[in-house]
Order: sequence, then C-alpha cells, then structure tokens
Amino acid sequence: MTRDDSALMSNGRALPRNAGWLGIGPLRLDPPVVLAPMAGVTTRAFRRLCRHYGPGGLYVSEMLTARALVEGNERTARMLRYDADERPRSAQLYGVAPGTVAEATRRLIGDFGVEHVDLNFGCPAPKVTAKGGGAALPVRRRLMADVIGAAVRAAAPDGVPVTVKFRRGIHDGLLTDVSTGRIAEGEGAAAVALHARTAEQRYAGDAAWSAIAELKAAVTTIPVLGNGDIWEARDAVRMMAETGCDGVVIGRGCLGRPWLFADLAAVFAGRPAAPPPPFGTVAGAMLRHAELLAEDESETTGLCAFRRHAAWYTQGYAIGADNRRALATVSSLTELAAVLARIDPTLPLPPEAVRWKRGHTDGPRPVRLPDGWLRLVDDPTPPAGAEILVSGG
Ligand SMILES: Cc1cc2nc3c(=O)[nH]c(=O)nc-3n(C[C@H](O)[C@H](O)[C@H](O)COP(=O)(O)O)c2cc1C
Repeated sequence: MTRDDSALMSNGRALPRNAGWLGIGPLRLDPPVVLAPMAGVTTRAFRRLCRHYGPGGLYVSEMLTARALVEGNERTARMLRYDADERPRSAQLYGVAPGTVAEATRRLIGDFGVEHVDLNFGCPAPKVTAKGGGAALPVRRRLMADVIGAAVRAAAPDGVPVTVKFRRGIHDGLLTDVSTGRIAEGEGAAAVALHARTAEQRYAGDAAWSAIAELKAAVTTIPVLGNGDIWEARDAVRMMAETGCDGVVIGRGCLGRPWLFADLAAVFAGRPAAPPPPFGTVAGAMLRHAELLAEDESETTGLCAFRRHAAWYTQGYAIGADNRRALATVSSLTELAAVLARIDPTLPLPPEAVRWKRGHTDGPRPVRLPDGWLRLVDDPTPPAGAEILVSGG
C-alpha cells in the first residue's frame, strides 16, 4: 500500500495506522488483513497454512461457545490449540450472558494464552436466533453492551484487545450495524468488523459495501474492518478505497486458496498479485493441509475433514469427474497422494473460475426471533437457551 492509499483509508482521523499497517490495541497487522473466523475451517492446520503465505495478518480461530468453554468442554479446548510460533493467538467467542463471556475471556487468556478475542454477533442459524442468540442479539442493545463491556473488562488487565463482528442487521427494515458499532466503541472494543449482509440475506446476493462506508463514518475512534465478497486481492484494495475502512476480513475467498494471503501482502505492498497457480502447486498445498489436519486429529478424522477443502481447492480445475469423486471419499494420506499424482500438474485455472463462489451461498431466509424480542431493546436479561453449540456466522 502506498502512503496515499493509507491517507485515503484514514479519512484524516487519528487512528493507529502508519503506511499500511493497522493497529488493533497493541497488535500490529501488516498488511491490514484478518482471516475471518469460520467454524469447521479456521483450525490450527488451516491457520498455519494461511500464515505461511501471509505472516503479517491476524488469523482468527473457529468460533467457541462461552458456556462450553467455561464448563470445560473437551472439544472446545481442542479447538484452542495453537502452534508455538502462532502470534498473536486469536479466538472468536460466542456468548449471550455477560458473566459467562467474562469468565470465558479470562480463561482464554489465562489458560490458553489468547492475545485477541473476537465476539461474534452475526450467526444467522435459525436455532440460535430463535432463542435470541447470534445475529438476534444486536437488537437487544443494553444486553449486547453488557456482554461487550464484560469481555473488555475481563481482557483489560492483560492488555488483550476485544473486537466485535456483526452483520448489517436482521433485515433491510431492521438495521443495527451503526448502533452496534457505536455501542462496541463506547464499551471499549478495539475494533469492529462488519459482514455487510443482513441475517436474512445469510450468504446470498452481494455484500453491501456502502454499509461499511456508513459504519466507518459513524465509528470514528477505533478501526472499522470490512467483510464480504473479497475473492481476489484487488477486491481488498477496492473495498478500502470505496469504503474508507481500515482493514479487511477474508472469509470464503481463501477457501481452497490460502495463497490469497500472499496475494494480499503483495498488493498492499504495491506489487501485483501472482496469477492463479497451476494444479501441481495446488496439489502441494492440499497435501500439506491434509497432513496438518491428520497431525491434529487421527488420519481418518483429518482426511474426512479435508474432503470439503479438497472440493474447494480443485474448484475450476479440469481434474475430471473420477478424480473429483475419489477426492470426495479420500480417507488416507497415501490415497490422497495417489489421486493427486494422477492429475496433470500443469492444469491451469480458467480465468472465468477465479471468482466462482466457494463455501456458503445460501439465502435469503426469514429470520426467526423469540416472541416479543423487539420490545426488549433495553432489557439486560440474557435469553435462556441461546448458548447452544453452534457453528457459523
Ligand atoms: C464455512 C463458514 C463458517 C463460518 N463460521 C463463522 C463463525 O463461526 N463466526 C463468524 O463470525 N462468522 C462465520 N462465518 C462468516 C464469515 O466469517 C464471513 O463473515 C462471511 O463468510 C462473509 O465473508 P466472505 O464474503 O469473505 O466469505 C462463516 C462463514 C463460512 C463460509
């Protein structure tokens, strides 16, 4: 990024930014890029691969449920494994009760050495919003403020920054992004990130980047990060130029394309992004990813988890239906290597495939809210039963 770009981003405000890097509390992101928390995806293995391509960013864990963490759930603890060289250690937390979220934050920091906590207020899963959790919570401004404040206070003694991630609102007629951003700012959050879709939209349609610009205009003392539809590195530069946001959050664009983080580092340094790699390079990354998953789980479990990544890695490459089928049922590293060895390593990615969507594309879908939810804006009582184990944002 050039100095001019940096000035453009800052909108003339005194944010902790300098020639392309972004400060989130004590953390320095260079380039100003964050890996979006993605349940079932942003494991230690995937984060390690992404960090290999773009060492300067912030790589957020899978979402953890505050209650499960506090109750000592084993699966949750397993999701908190970090490589020795993974700095900062970042974790996303989901919770609806201030006390539980505070305790979970203390444990993340004290027991797992976490150095960045992100709070999730964007999950659109019907079973969660119907109980008043996830994307339903920003409507309950008082309670959400209490949850954010509790996490910020619990993290403060260790100087750990707390960030807040949310959507535009429930639907086009019930937008909460600006109020949520201002509440987060007021409660001491170190940054906010907006997935510029409503909960009703889920993953359909285009993200409304204009909403990121509006949030940036409203939240003036902490960084505002933009999220939604960054499929190529140049999209990130365009998002920052069009919205004035301070950094970007990358979700589906890096599924099967972890080298997107190298492309992002290149374009933010003013260099061109590399062209899409030939299949041989993709196959190398696939094997490495599968090996890392197998190290963390058993080989069978790791390879089972790898299957959907295999579909993302190979999307667009003309590898043939038989190979695609074989990858969909692959169950050992040897088998994976054998299938990959059958595929022409010089296969290119056709230009039209570069922007094909990977990961979720579902929606729109009406949002289920608890009865009378909209009348409870100033009620601080946490909803019962909303802290179920969920995956997603
Ligand atoms: C498989 C998958 C899992 C996700 N899980 C979470 C999650 O646990 N927490 C969260 O805040 N967002 C989650 N999201 C949403 C992403 O973080 C991101 O906001 C969204 O995908 C939009 O960004 P994108 O257009 O770059 O993908 C998930 C998205 C996907 C595709």
